[in-house]
Amino acid sequence: MSRATLLTGVGELVTFDPVHEGPLGVVRDAALLDVDGRVEWTGLASAAPRSDADEIVDAGGAAVIPGFVDSHTHLVFGGDRSAEFEARMAGRPYSASGIRGTVAATREATEDALRVRLTRFVTELRGQGTTTFEIKSGYGLTIADEERILRLAREATPETTFLGAHVIPAEYADDPEAYVDLVTGAMLEACAPHARWIDVFCETGAFTVEQSRRILTAGTERGLGVRVHASQLGPGDGVALAVELDAASVDHCTYLTDADVTLLAGSRTVATLLPGVEFSTRHPYPDARRLIDAGVRVALASDCNPGSSFTSSLPFCIAVAVRDMGMTVPEALRAATLGGAEALRRDDVGHLRPGARADYVVLDAPSYVHLAYRPGVPLVTRTRIAPH
Ligand code: NIG
Ligand code: FE
Repeated sequence: MSRATLLTGVGELVTFDPVHEGPLGVVRDAALLDVDGRVEWTGLASAAPRSDADEIVDAGGAAVIPGFVDSHTHLVFGGDRSAEFEARMAGRPYSASGIRGTVAATREATEDALRVRLTRFVTELRGQGTTTFEIKSGYGLTIADEERILRLAREATPETTFLGAHVIPAEYADDPEAYVDLVTGAMLEACAPHARWIDVFCETGAFTVEQSRRILTAGTERGLGVRVHASQLGPGDGVALAVELDAASVDHCTYLTDADVTLLAGSRTVATLLPGVEFSTRHPYPDARRLIDAGVRVALASDCNPGSSFTSSLPFCIAVAVRDMGMTVPEALRAATLGGAEALRRDDVGHLRPGARADYVVLDAPSYVHLAYRPGVPLVTRTRIAPH
């Protein structure tokens, strides 16, 4: 027996359906018919097929948007790095070497402790409107620890990413090539069954472009999709590599050359911007306007991790992107929903067109604009995630 729920009394419904108004596909005084967790119909409430519904829910004039799609997080880790943040805010620069501290704490943590923390993060994300999220490994850096992180991540989401190439662990500091051999060999073997994606931190101080190409190619040979961390701390060759390998997404993109922008514009690789990182490291924000004007697809994600960006809030990222990265409010909303879905190569989330998962967020606001207009205010009153 199928079950139909009519959500009505929606003051402003964002669908991204081109049959509705403007680039966001907005309907005012709207309704949405959800049949067995899929969007069946959206339109004017006055035209809603009421007799088809088993249940009618009234949104009381609130705005409703697609659930956020957070395409970049690192939610499985041990330890705390608040002292590092405090020192940064007092003038010390960010250093990726802090990753090794989290690696040590994660290796020491019990599986139960990691799971309890992950479960809390998932509740935190959902409470802020995120309905689909990716999780990376990368704080284990041994076969057993990376495998354990990915197994736990898989309990929470199908969007899991093997990031054994996060940094060279301390025990391989004198022989980085041996670590690349491990990542592309036995570690990949153990981790690939729990992962959909492979990722590399391609940056000075982490992995070179040659090492990154080797690692990502080994992943594609095991059937994993490609994602890349690049141009976070300075310009480099990571964006060109991501485009060369048809990566679904290249993330950070803080320091881009004109050539990078041209390459991205001619590709289907999404540039995923992570404003929480620049907020928390005091690096300059990435220039979203430059990318959008060049025709690059852009996503916003949290990069929730204990070192460079300890926020799980996409409303926060939207507010910063609008205030400081040259995005309009509709562009930022799109980047945190449909853009995130594109960065995960998913067509069933990030929008509310017929056939999409009925994952949506009810806001305590008359318009989605309030996400940027009321920064820091908890506007999410309900996050609806359709059963899988
Ligand atoms: O995405 N860029 C590399 N990795 C993380 C930072 C992790 C950390 O500092 O612990 C990132 O920003
Ligand atoms: Fe990251």
